[in-house]
Amino acid sequence: MQLQETKTLISAGEIQAKVAELAGRVDKDYYGKNPLLLCVLKGAVIFLADFMRCLTIPVEIDFMAVSSYGASTKSSGVVRILKDLESSIEGRHVLIVEDIIDTGLTLKYLVENLRSRGPATVKIVTLLDKPDRREVDIEADYCGFKIPNEFVVGYGLDYNEGYRQLPQVSVLKGSQK
Ligand code: IMP
Repeated sequence: MQLQETKTLISAGEIQAKVAELAGRVDKDYYGKNPLLLCVLKGAVIFLADFMRCLTIPVEIDFMAVSSYGASTKSSGVVRILKDLESSIEGRHVLIVEDIIDTGLTLKYLVENLRSRGPATVKIVTLLDKPDRREVDIEADYCGFKIPNEFVVGYGLDYNEGYRQLPQVSVLKGSQK
């Protein structure tokens, strides 16, 4: 795939500083709680990897994959579980690790689904948030950056499965949104 030109929105240095700051807050809030970090594949893997290495409290990780945009930059509104958790979350403190909240449809569904499994708590940490795009009432408990309504790539986020390896968050020039 030919990569299009991109423009940096948030630099790698800014991301690293913010990730450490978020981890500091989570370290304090979850002390003694042994939280389960639930990483939503695939976009949040880079964030999870950096975030968990900044934590000093013991944590466990698990992964879920849910359907999102496919090859388009528009949300379908359809949420399907493509890969479920390996372990039970009953009585656990679950912290969902997300790359970005856009319409909020994916997370809304996910939180409701998880709540039905009897966890102690379900909270959300997201690196990015596009509040202008929200269609349902959902907020992150920990948010890295609020960004404008533009399609972004890099630091795990993709367009057509490309650009995930960029160390910064960039805007795709000529994007539809
Ligand atoms: P939502 O359900 O509309 O909140 O979107 C959730 C998912 O859509 C995210 O976890 C991303 O995988 C994807 N997504 C939303 N906005 C963007 C973007 O600007 N760039 C890349 N992926 C995005």
